Amino acid sequence: MLGRLNHVAIAVPDLEAASAIYRDTLGADVSAPQVLPEHGVTVVFVNVANTKIELLEPFGESSPIASFLEKNPSGGMHHLCYEVDDILAARDRLTAAGARVLGDGEPKTGAHGKPVLFLHPKDFTGTLVELEQA
Ligand code: CO
Repeated sequence: MLGRLNHVAIAVPDLEAASAIYRDTLGADVSAPQVLPEHGVTVVFVNVANTKIELLEPFGESSPIASFLEKNPSGGMHHLCYEVDDILAARDRLTAAGARVLGDGEPKTGAHGKPVLFLHPKDFTGTLVELEQA
């Protein structure tokens, strides 16, 4: 069921500063910022050879990463995103096994224009897991 690691997401308090660290200090290829109002974040992708790093900054009043940043003011690893071939089949298999899907359980469109779902961190060794239909 589990495909490749699509990205590792890091929540950051200052997207501009975080982008500069990756672009200037680490010499990485960093995308332009993209606002995702439906997800309450502004996102930048850092392209590395075998995956991507997603830098997330809160957007709007009720950003889902606001409380994470309250607990981790300098930022921190927020979620892992794995690719799946069929997101609805993956969801049904995981919920049948007792895993909890966040939100209303229906896929939303993610930063790559593809359907995504988030799985409860308590069901996955303390790590928030995103599934993206590849
Ligand atoms: Co993500």
